[in-house]
Amino acid sequence: MKRSADPADPTPGAGPLYVTTPIYYANAAPHIGHTYTTVVADTLVRWRRLLGADAFSVSGTDEHGEKMVEAAATRGVAPAAFTAEISATFQQTWAELGIAPDAFVRTTDPTHTRNVQAILQRVWEAGWIEQREYDGLYCIGCERFLTERDLVDGLCRDHERAPEPRRESNYFFRMSREFDWLRDHIERHPEFITPERYRNEALAMLRDESGLGDLSISRPKSRLAWGVELPFDPEHVCYVWFDALISYLTGAGYPDDPAFAARWDVVEHLIGKDILKPHAIFWPIMLKTIGLPPYRRLHVHGYWNVDNRKVSKSLGNMVSPLAMRDRYGFEAFRYFLLREMSFGLDAGFSEEALASRVNADLANNLGNLVSRTLNLVAKWCDGRVPAPENEGDAEHAVAAAAVATTDAVAHAMATLRPHDALAAILDLASTVNRYLDTQAPWKAAKQPDGEARVRTSLATACRGLRALALLLAAFLPNAAQGIAERLGVPDLLADARLPDAAQAWDALAPGTRIDKGAALFPRIELRTED
Ligand code: MSP
Repeated sequence: MKRSADPADPTPGAGPLYVTTPIYYANAAPHIGHTYTTVVADTLVRWRRLLGADAFSVSGTDEHGEKMVEAAATRGVAPAAFTAEISATFQQTWAELGIAPDAFVRTTDPTHTRNVQAILQRVWEAGWIEQREYDGLYCIGCERFLTERDLVDGLCRDHERAPEPRRESNYFFRMSREFDWLRDHIERHPEFITPERYRNEALAMLRDESGLGDLSISRPKSRLAWGVELPFDPEHVCYVWFDALISYLTGAGYPDDPAFAARWDVVEHLIGKDILKPHAIFWPIMLKTIGLPPYRRLHVHGYWNVDNRKVSKSLGNMVSPLAMRDRYGFEAFRYFLLREMSFGLDAGFSEEALASRVNADLANNLGNLVSRTLNLVAKWCDGRVPAPENEGDAEHAVAAAAVATTDAVAHAMATLRPHDALAAILDLASTVNRYLDTQAPWKAAKQPDGEARVRTSLATACRGLRALALLLAAFLPNAAQGIAERLGVPDLLADARLPDAAQAWDALAPGTRIDKGAALFPRIELRTED
């Protein structure tokens, strides 16, 4: 059963993509928040590639600014050595977790600082920058001046620390000149910022400009020497956010790489809601002044909380991805991240929540389906995928569920709802499990005329496993490969093209020798503390 390709109805979200994660501050090791954005980007890129699209991804580390100087000082190291070490930790962590962005930008890279300086010079010459006195409250945690609405009892709402009063001469990026243009752009392009609640938030910021104004984009070297020097005033360095956003251009090869323009055409940024303002307001206006079109989409997710508080370095409640890998296996953690958080909303992390999701979905549903199917094939079909004999409504219903699931996953990924995509895939596993329960091949095997039923039902379950491996490949690449190997088709994922491959129901050759292997996802038993 194969869906005919209808050119009028292409798979949603199958086009080329350039996706970015935020570049992470190089002041402490990666935690669950960074891991989430990075895993979503990795999943999206893998999914697009499975659809046959060109996908390119960039991540990196944000290494300038007062936050880095402060963190380096507490360790008694120079900022350059400090950020180099933490940046390496980020790169190693992603590599160890099997995540490989196509480019990794460090803002201290000379190619990047050259880009920042060239852009500053251009924007300066075009009259977008002017020098003014500034008087305000600065939060080093946020690396920005705060307004009244950012404060709770005089403390920064996110970092729970008192901002510092500052009065100094700064260069200002005159972004307020473009607020009307930006408002109009957001209004005309409903998909520019998603989910919608963040689009509304951006529009609300623009409606009430008292919290916005022009943007201070310099720091006097007398206070901060660690940054990109302004090309038109060597006594100042560039504000860290102006520098950081430009990394999205550097990562895509700006300005000289011939691939840059095509990448920029299809750029989508992934961020957490804490950094909506720089991405929704500063960045489109910066791009306009640089002479580039705005990004195509900004996807905004919520916070991971522990005990109802945002996970963050400054609050010290981090959850380390490497510790999670050591304890539960990275794919169990990766599954939890992608499935538990509805993209756009906050989610809570606890090891109990992780264990209950992983046990219910991966051990009891998916993992159990793999092991019971393959055990039955080993026992009743001589360890080879059987040929179905008399397919009826029950088999057609399972095949139709695989087709429908593939479509549902494509739709969910086109609108960046990985949680819904995984829910649909696990539903397919439940459907096949229920089918097996009803067909009960272990009973049929003991009946005199039950052989055809055994072969048909186990062939159907094996086909279901093949579809599940293909559909899971972007989300849980190792588990998907594990299913393919146990099913005796280790090359299944190598050149697979979706959606067709997952919908080619009868592509699994009868006679394929299966290999039961170990449990795909062992149950997690949480140790109770004494
Ligand atoms: N360096 C800036 C981003 C510059 S992008 C041009 C920055 N870095 S950060 O290290 O603080 O991390 C930013 C991103 O990490 C957030 O936007 C989000 O993607 C992720 N998260 C950090 N903590 C988070 C949670 N507790 N929950 C979810 N994600 C959050 O800001």
